[in-house]
Amino acid sequence: MAKINDNYLKLKAGYLFPEIGRRVREFSAANPTAKVIRLGIGDVTRPLAPAVLKAFHDAVDDLATTDHFAGYGPEQGYDWLINAIIEKSYKPRGVSLKTEEMFISDGSKCDCANILDIFALDNVVAIGDPVYPVYNDTNVMIGRTGEADDKGYYANVVYMPCNEANNFIPALPTQKVDIIYLCFPNNPTGTVASKAELKKWVDYANANDAVIFFDAAYEAFITNPDIPHSIYEIEGAKRCAIEFRSFSKTAGFTGVRCGLVVVPEEVMGTTATGERYSFNKLWLRRTTTKFNGASYPVQRAAAAVYSDEGWKQTREIIDYYMENARIIREGLTEAGVTIFGGVDAPYIWLKTPGNLTSWEFFDKLLNECNVVGTPGSGFGPSGEGYFRLSAFGHRENVIEAVERIKKNLK
Ligand code: MLT
Repeated sequence: MAKINDNYLKLKAGYLFPEIGRRVREFSAANPTAKVIRLGIGDVTRPLAPAVLKAFHDAVDDLATTDHFAGYGPEQGYDWLINAIIEKSYKPRGVSLKTEEMFISDGSKCDCANILDIFALDNVVAIGDPVYPVYNDTNVMIGRTGEADDKGYYANVVYMPCNEANNFIPALPTQKVDIIYLCFPNNPTGTVASKAELKKWVDYANANDAVIFFDAAYEAFITNPDIPHSIYEIEGAKRCAIEFRSFSKTAGFTGVRCGLVVVPEEVMGTTATGERYSFNKLWLRRTTTKFNGASYPVQRAAAAVYSDEGWKQTREIIDYYMENARIIREGLTEAGVTIFGGVDAPYIWLKTPGNLTSWEFFDKLLNECNVVGTPGSGFGPSGEGYFRLSAFGHRENVIEAVERIKKNLK
């Protein structure tokens, strides 16, 4: 009989968001008249920007003509998209990248998981706590960890607690690690890291031959001009960092699917026999073997984000969500709730009132306010006692949800 990958059995529960979906479906079935407002998973609600939609349509029409038909594209993405991203998103921030250093994909979640293919299993990983659960779970799945303890910490992983005391910025590990996950603006805490804070990590990585996985999925939501959008704004980062970006939240592509990874040629690892080897070469080899590229119309739509019109329209959508974030922040603060984030990120991280556990507060909000959020403990043990609200809802729903919560907590 074929054997399963036993590592999957180490995983504690189902993935966080399907579990929330299951509980909400159960609640709705039992309470069919309740108008449930979903501010849980960070799923966008605004339609695509008109310029992006037009490019998408035009590209589909291309497929109907012999002259413009597109079959397999380059596995790592079309140059016209990669160069548009470099010109518009990186160059103005003083970051120069080669076309060969960027890889277009069908989304950042897959990239964060797939990147593990090119790293040996005996690398030690350091992961924030709480953080986007994909980092932890994919390391469990691939077999890098031991079993979880009662709290949910897996053996052989270095967890970096992020809490109020450290402003939700992890401290440098006290033991040597090889791979460090950093996510800024942070999911779930909505907090950001300054240049000085990121510099400490880049210096640590370069001094310890470690690689930073920098998840910048929410960079477009930064409002403070002093906060870096890319790890490569930090001197020395091109020698030690791989950066992930996503069109999901930036351009409303959660259902369209497009992301990117930057693997600078200078980022090196060692072979089993001690020679230095470029991760860029390995990632190219992996990509060309295991992926056939994001679809042509999707890449055309993504490229339109960088046109003058597309850029402006996309910015307006981001501003809409950040206004939602302001409404949530101010409303909950008025209700006496302690909140974090929501200024440079579309997530508001709050302390559960009345010392409720994260899941107790989830149930209270669902049952008493018919509002869905995300329990902080779902992002890691240090998220216990916290709760995340997403700013990606429809404006009228956000306003109503805040009113319901305020009334309930008075
Ligand atoms: C979230 O709510 O944390 C995100 O939507 C999950 C994701 O981007 O995969």
